[in-house]
Amino acid sequence: LPRVLSGIQPTADSFHLGNYLGALRQWVSLQESAEAFYCVVDLHAITLPQDPATLRRNTLVSAAQLLAIGVDPGRSALFVQSHVPEHVQLSWVLECLTGFGEASRMTQFKDKSQREGTGTASVGLFTYPVLQAADILVYQADEVPVGEDQRQHLELTRDLAVRFNGRFGQTFTVPTARIPQGAAKILDLQSPDKKMSKSLPPAGCIFLLDEPAVTAKKIRSAVTDTGREVVFDPENKAGVSNLLAIHSALSGQSIADLEAHFADSGYGDLKKEVAEVVTESLAPIRQRTQELLDDPAELERVLAAGAARAREVASRTVAEVYDRVGFLAPG
Ligand code: TYM
Repeated sequence: LPRVLSGIQPTADSFHLGNYLGALRQWVSLQESAEAFYCVVDLHAITLPQDPATLRRNTLVSAAQLLAIGVDPGRSALFVQSHVPEHVQLSWVLECLTGFGEASRMTQFKDKSQREGTGTASVGLFTYPVLQAADILVYQADEVPVGEDQRQHLELTRDLAVRFNGRFGQTFTVPTARIPQGAAKILDLQSPDKKMSKSLPPAGCIFLLDEPAVTAKKIRSAVTDTGREVVFDPENKAGVSNLLAIHSALSGQSIADLEAHFADSGYGDLKKEVAEVVTESLAPIRQRTQELLDDPAELERVLAAGAARAREVASRTVAEVYDRVGFLAPG
């Protein structure tokens, strides 16, 4: 079976629709055909300041949402990144193979460090993509389901795998990014020139755990344009095209069918229907998440079992890597 690895940051109290359509739905479908490792990346979360109690809570809520979406702990290893110390152990070795200039070219680092203010961004934010490479390579993953914004990090991961293999002998599988068609980049509802993100004002971001009325209101208030035709034209009609992409991804109807369906109606009808499709799709996820959070001890058991399974694989990779780079075997 091919191996799959992916991760998500526990930096908000709910995932958003971009996370869901860009990545998490693929996490669920890939379980059928692959041996999957899915982690809540709390080590990555502290590259920006986090309140400890909030981080702990968000980590648990994240795990509950992943189960609610359909990650099956009987099939896949679901775990918390900090529970598997091998990620950090491998990360150090990879850091020593990463060029300073190479890391400086990562666009997410440039964006985030700029937001933090020059000179105040942490070294952890700088080495973030190398830890991500370690997350992936430590499981010898073949495929990594992610949204479009992770493409550059995946390229770095591939480069590091090839570089290590070239220098020390064949060790790592070189992974490929699995980026979905159509929903790889869901846009913010208020600023449809930007990707949907929790770091923009919440009015433009559909959180999975929002109340249905809140979700419907956000969609009703989505920015469109001054035209009237419901057509898919991402260049000139980013907002309308984004709503069509969301509808299509959730309803399974093709964009062409939707354009035909809305041929005689306006933006108001489109928004009304998108709101219905979204709230209906998210209702069961929200309900199941709440049920799972009623039993945190059970969640913790699932995560402990996932970490144990992950460590079996990860520890073998780290042992091989440490041997190859020339570390003396511990007695
Ligand atoms: P994160 O936590 O920001 O996002 C989780 C996943 O959601 C995708 N995504 C989107 N997809 C479509 N449209 C959007 N607006 C949108 N916003 C987010 C992301 O592409 C991602 O797949 N660096 C990663 C976490 C990570 C990771 C890993 C991923 C750490 N280690 C190893 C894969 C493999 C991140 O910050 O994702």
